[in-house]
Amino acid sequence: MRIVVARDYEELSKKAANILASQITLKPDSVLGLATGATPVGTYMELLRIYNEGDISFSEAVTFNLDEYYGLDKENNQSYYYFMMEHLFKHVNIKHKNIHIPDGRAKDIQEECIHYESKIAKAGGIDLQLLGIGRNGHIGFNEPDVKFEAETHLVTLDEDTIEANSRFFISPEEVPKQAISMGIKTIMHSKKILLLASGEEKAEIIYNMIYGKITPELPASVLQLHPDVIVLLDEEAASMLNKNRTS
Ligand code: F6R
Repeated sequence: MRIVVARDYEELSKKAANILASQITLKPDSVLGLATGATPVGTYMELLRIYNEGDISFSEAVTFNLDEYYGLDKENNQSYYYFMMEHLFKHVNIKHKNIHIPDGRAKDIQEECIHYESKIAKAGGIDLQLLGIGRNGHIGFNEPDVKFEAETHLVTLDEDTIEANSRFFISPEEVPKQAISMGIKTIMHSKKILLLASGEEKAEIIYNMIYGKITPELPASVLQLHPDVIVLLDEEAASMLNKNRTS
């Protein structure tokens, strides 16, 4: 794991966007794994700025999102499809057929999950996977007690995740209880991983992810086994790491 500490959220977002932009520059037909949530919003904004300056093109890029809420229509403004359109896709020259997000309204969820995995494989696997991390250590929606061998599957969200994500909904009752998520195996097969974390509320889980034992109780701890991970933090998310250095 390579740990990079940015001064603040703005610098973190710039660094993350630069890594994504370099990936597309070096390999224009890159397969990007993308994340939603609050953390990558600044990254997508910065990526759009780079795009608008004419420095990168998405014309050959292929994307796969990590997850989608079960039961939400694409048009629902809380769906991850809607999020991705608003924050990135509708502003760039990506081909619609190259955008992949699990279908939260698929009639046959099992079939949707198998199909999603085969589309990733057919695209040649994910070159660069962007990740956030939940306060409980989830990546994608792989909640504590995850099976490391799982591929894309239907997951039941933790109470903590529902509570954390209720900030985007009118009330916690409105947060879907299930989601379709890439599994840990899918994520671990990515060639390169970029995990972002910002703010003090992520400091403890980041410390445990890096220095704790590898356990399904902390899904992100499995990243210790991946050969090419960049953990990009702001100073607040990195604040407990310094304690380790002095102890
Ligand atoms: C989002 C995702 C989640 C988030 C995580 C952190 O696609 O898979 O794992 O990355 O819940 O969310 P924020 O960034 O809102 O703290």
